[in-house]
Amino acid sequence: MSNNQITLKGVKKSYGGRVVSDIADLALGRHGVEGLIGPNGAGKTTLMSLITGKISADAGEILFFENGNRHDISGKKLDAVARLGLVRTNQRIQDFESLGILDSMLLSVVQPAQETVLGLFAETALRQQAHPAINRYLEAFRFSDPGGYALSAGEKKLLDIIRCLLLKPKFLLMDEPTVGLPQDQTDKVMEVVREAARDDGMSVVIIEHDLDLIWNVCEYIHFMADGRIMAQGTPDEVRTSTMVREKYMGEGDA
Ligand SMILES: Nc1ncnc2c1ncn2[C@@H]1O[C@H](COP(=O)(O)OP(=O)(O)OP(=O)(O)O)[C@@H](O)[C@H]1O
Ligand SMILES: [Mg+2]
Repeated sequence: MSNNQITLKGVKKSYGGRVVSDIADLALGRHGVEGLIGPNGAGKTTLMSLITGKISADAGEILFFENGNRHDISGKKLDAVARLGLVRTNQRIQDFESLGILDSMLLSVVQPAQETVLGLFAETALRQQAHPAINRYLEAFRFSDPGGYALSAGEKKLLDIIRCLLLKPKFLLMDEPTVGLPQDQTDKVMEVVREAARDDGMSVVIIEHDLDLIWNVCEYIHFMADGRIMAQGTPDEVRTSTMVREKYMGEGDA
């Protein structure tokens, strides 16, 4: 079980007077791989954006605990939060501009270190260190041409996930990671994520509408609607909750 947790207290966010996030008290990361589910517009993506510092909350406290260290990340910016080991994959397809697949993987390894100005020697060492991991991912996901660009939506999605994993995060937030991927690639993504959770103690929260994936992969689930956490529990507890069924799945769907 990982030592990494995120806690939110009294976190609020409104757009034009409409409350889209109202999190009284929430702890993420206590149960290995966790799920965050809820209807469209529930506020799941917004919640991840608040945690990772992409947007700032109107009120409340967000704390990140990693290996016994406590960080107040309320109001911290994206880069600062990522440097603490808290990163996320994106719901929307990312474009990697003019970089090829292999180059953008290498860049994700080298870039964070550049902030400490390690110089060329360290950069080369870092690249070498990262090579086994990069090769493993290239092999696992069978990119058609690793030297070329990520062309399909699926390859871009995979590349975004792999770049995050190469950072060796302590906490990974995944926003609909496998939308548009074929089933075998989806299974592979989940396999490497679970492996990192088990072997490296990485905590994971996955947003997904694919409920089969959620029931199969997650040990604990948070259910969100109207900006609030409405139910939490094991997959069995959540899938049989009358409220979750009414608000999200529709009767008889579970
Ligand atoms: N920048 C913004 N300006 C105004 N409203 C916003 C903004 N970002 C999000 N919202 C609104 O906040 C609500 C929550 O959106 P959010 O994207 O977090 O939902 P979600 O649970 O991720 O939905 P989905 O499952 O469709 O991805 C929605 O009603 C959305 O329209
Ligand atoms: Mg979303």
